[in-house]
Amino acid sequence: MAADYLQSLPSHAAFPATSGDQTERLFHQPWTDEGLGAGALDAVRDVFEHSRPPSPCFFGYVFGSGEPVAAIGDLLASVVNQNVTAWRSAPAAVAIEKTVVGWLAEAVGASGFSGSLCGGGSAANLMALAMAREARAPANQRGAPAGVVYASEEVHMSIPKSVALLGLGTANLRLVATDERFRMIPQQLERVMEEDRHAGKLAIAVVASAGTVTTGSIDPLPEITEIGRRHGAWLHVDGAYGALAALAMTEKFAGLRLADSLSLDPHKWLYQPVDVGCLLYRDGTAARAAFSHTGEYARVLNEDPVEGFAFFEESAELSRRFRALKLWLSLRYHGRAAFRAAIANDLKHAQLLAERVRQTPQLELMAPVELSAVCFRYRREGKSEAELDGLNRAILKRVVQRGRVFISNALLRGRFALRACIVNHRTTAADVEKVVEEVLQSATETAWSANTALHQPSA
Ligand SMILES: Cc1ncc(COP(=O)(O)O)c(C=O)c1O
Repeated sequence: MAADYLQSLPSHAAFPATSGDQTERLFHQPWTDEGLGAGALDAVRDVFEHSRPPSPCFFGYVFGSGEPVAAIGDLLASVVNQNVTAWRSAPAAVAIEKTVVGWLAEAVGASGFSGSLCGGGSAANLMALAMAREARAPANQRGAPAGVVYASEEVHMSIPKSVALLGLGTANLRLVATDERFRMIPQQLERVMEEDRHAGKLAIAVVASAGTVTTGSIDPLPEITEIGRRHGAWLHVDGAYGALAALAMTEKFAGLRLADSLSLDPHKWLYQPVDVGCLLYRDGTAARAAFSHTGEYARVLNEDPVEGFAFFEESAELSRRFRALKLWLSLRYHGRAAFRAAIANDLKHAQLLAERVRQTPQLELMAPVELSAVCFRYRREGKSEAELDGLNRAILKRVVQRGRVFISNALLRGRFALRACIVNHRTTAADVEKVVEEVLQSATETAWSANTALHQPSA
């Protein structure tokens, strides 16, 4: 089934012909008393049919394409069913996770960092800020004291969410202005940190983005680190979208190793099936200070540095999936050069799309293309900004309905943009060419239906 499905991918619409009614009807079924046996698998065909496929033409959000060797790793991980709490529960799995975490650290220029795999960038960011908080404003025993976290106005929503969950209060998250390339402005960071220092506020952490979610901008890491350090703050880099592109363009990511902690997301730009994120940190003792709460029943009695190791002392989870197996299989099967080449292709494809947008008079680029996210919009003379927002919203809806490509949306300085983000090892240049064709065609159809609607008598 899996092989047939993967082979048929190019013939699937980028979004399935489905509806809420259909998925309710198909899947909202009672759990039967009698088992169906192998017949239970029959309905998996419906699951495939009503799923958004990992299509070569999927360019939405920031979401990897799920390469199949890793999928076999996920299956085998479930078969061997290791609980990767500690070496004593999962000897090989712990060794493999530490190995792949080391490979990822080295790949982004942060050799010597340790860390763990987790559910994704959001989980990694939450753990990073928990570590920062415990390091700068210890809260585990007495509850959370007040303190401030700094990030740019382009930061991913998982940062405000983490600040809220940690009890710091989103009012204590300062969103620093960005420049024309959507990068945090260091002088603005300096200014707000200085203001807060005068007001007697404690700086807990500065979060820099290495690939902002909307445009892929990379904050100026060395300058931000210098300012953050001078004010005593923890330096976290959210590299969930971009940092793994360091494999193909090291020069853009100088400074990642300056961080105290760094989030990566192999289920984005390392093409792994969900879920696998990664948190790296410079100092394991900071992780243990935040996460070590061992109950007596779980205490590790082994003094050996390998056999006595427990991930639950350094991360938020106790029971943990064997996520490392898919990564380990996939990275070894394909080799480093294949990943480097696939990332380089995505970067090239994004530039190709940007070029096509520039060559098309009806379209305009809304942001520089730093990595693989291309933000643009359809424009028409004489329309107000609000009308252009509405028109592009309608175009996006139509593009998705037509199903030849899947793109998503973004808000840039308050304006609605179409957004294609290419982190897809299946994509070819011909797939990228379809994006502009589809937007133009959808714009025509949108205008046509708006005109006919205008001339129809109201119901
Ligand atoms: C910059 C950035 N940080 C964090 C995340 C959250 O990652 P996840 O969806 O794996 O939780 C994303 C997701 O797109 C992201 O782009």
